[in-house]
Amino acid sequence: MARINRKKFIQGAATVGAMAAAPGLLAQVGERGPTRVTIDLERRIAPLDPRVFGSFLEHLGRAIYEGVYDPGNALSDKNGLRKDVAEEIRTMGVPIVRYPGGNFVSGYHWLDGVGPKKDRPTVLERAWNSIETNQFGTNEFIDWCKLAGTEPLLGLNFGTAGAEDAANLVEYCNQPGGTKWSELRKAHGYAAPHNVRRWCLGNEMDGPWQIGHMTATEYGRKAIDAARQMRFVDRGIQLVACGSSGPGMGTYLEWDQQVLQECYHEVEALSLHRYFNNEGETGKDSTKFVAMNLSFEKQIAEVAAVCDTVQGKLRSRKRLWLSFDEWNVWYRATDGNGRREKAPHLLEEVYNLEDALLVGGLVNSLLRRADRVKLACLAQLVNVIAPIMTNKSGLLRQTIYFPYVWALKHAKGEVLDLHVDGPRYDVRDLGPAGYVDAIGTLDRPGKKMALFLLNRDLQNEREVTVTWHDAAPTKVVASQTITGPDLKAANTFDAPSKVVPQKLETPAASARMTFKLPARSYSVVELGV
Ligand code: AHR
Repeated sequence: MARINRKKFIQGAATVGAMAAAPGLLAQVGERGPTRVTIDLERRIAPLDPRVFGSFLEHLGRAIYEGVYDPGNALSDKNGLRKDVAEEIRTMGVPIVRYPGGNFVSGYHWLDGVGPKKDRPTVLERAWNSIETNQFGTNEFIDWCKLAGTEPLLGLNFGTAGAEDAANLVEYCNQPGGTKWSELRKAHGYAAPHNVRRWCLGNEMDGPWQIGHMTATEYGRKAIDAARQMRFVDRGIQLVACGSSGPGMGTYLEWDQQVLQECYHEVEALSLHRYFNNEGETGKDSTKFVAMNLSFEKQIAEVAAVCDTVQGKLRSRKRLWLSFDEWNVWYRATDGNGRREKAPHLLEEVYNLEDALLVGGLVNSLLRRADRVKLACLAQLVNVIAPIMTNKSGLLRQTIYFPYVWALKHAKGEVLDLHVDGPRYDVRDLGPAGYVDAIGTLDRPGKKMALFLLNRDLQNEREVTVTWHDAAPTKVVASQTITGPDLKAANTFDAPSKVVPQKLETPAASARMTFKLPARSYSVVELGV
């Protein structure tokens, strides 16, 4: 059932209506000359929740098996966890990881994946037509999170299981002891509770490809029942209701509204998902592709508006936040049929330079909407539509790794409300897009700020003049760019350095600085302030 291609349902239709052009505002379309960025450190959008740069690991293809868990490999520890992969993720600083799915979760019985490994059943996994040995389950994931220095975000089966099963898993994970499920955890060797704080109530239940697909009202009622039972077990948890799978869905926004009508009072957040392609959505036009983050922002605005409409209708004092818990570029490796193999090579998308540019734009958009998006997951993390690929002897950093890791390293503190004014170009169905997309963050205690700069001009270098109103940078701490002559260039195990960061030449720190952004580039500049 779930092998029905998601693409069939949500791509093609995914050119999201035209963005309203801002007539007469800002600079003229096509104008040359610099983009002017004005910074006033007192003008801020919102504090940045670090969880906005989380990621996702699903029992899918080689994400878990061979990706993070590979017993017998010299690179793995005594528990079978790949030390090099966990170390990479710890060094990157990935704050939160969603698990175990995705489509997988809608047919997953968590009890199959706990207890002595020799007693765990091998099952036919129906979302990806693969063989699941259950040798890695909830407890191994919690162990792995500790090793990788990240927080778990657990997904729940709303397909073949229900509210009771969800509440039991919360009890298994979070109740210290003295009850059926907490004692089972202890018997499995975990004396202390896992204290999992954040939970996803199902996955993409609006999608006909999803095991247990149902109507919005059915889902909303199931969600409120599960939420109440889960909260009864642990009052400290935060719950994310399952929003629409994307703007290409026929039920987009209507689903969100109906779901929230049922369960608004019992959830903290609503999920959004989105995968971009440089195919049907753009007509293979890369100038449009690198501007698609504007459509991502439109999606955030639309879903937030639905949340606020329901809040108003229900006269609720609570404002929901958004969990963009699947986002990425994904359109080439779409065959989801695992052919009943263990750890099949599925969804092993190879990312190129233009994908990295759009991922940089998406990072900028997540920062710009830090007022509303408090959690988000790059989908996914290892081997499956991922920044990191593994083979038996090491790992590879794909192009999209770099904008993602720069966000993790440099985006700290508060997001600044920059004034950006510069030349734009017309993008079919999207309206005018700036050649330069700029956003910045300010880490007050660290006395640092960072600028994230996308140059969407695929032919020409673009200048950006940055003027500080109320402070002057004292030094340039770091400045890097990814660029190159070939938008389709990618890193492989044989040639791992085709697209890697290069130094971005910068002027000396001062209250007015002009940066020259190479054509086809995404850059980060960190400054002392
Ligand atoms: O991330 C791959 C798949 O995309 C997930 O399993 C599903 O939620 C989405 O359709």
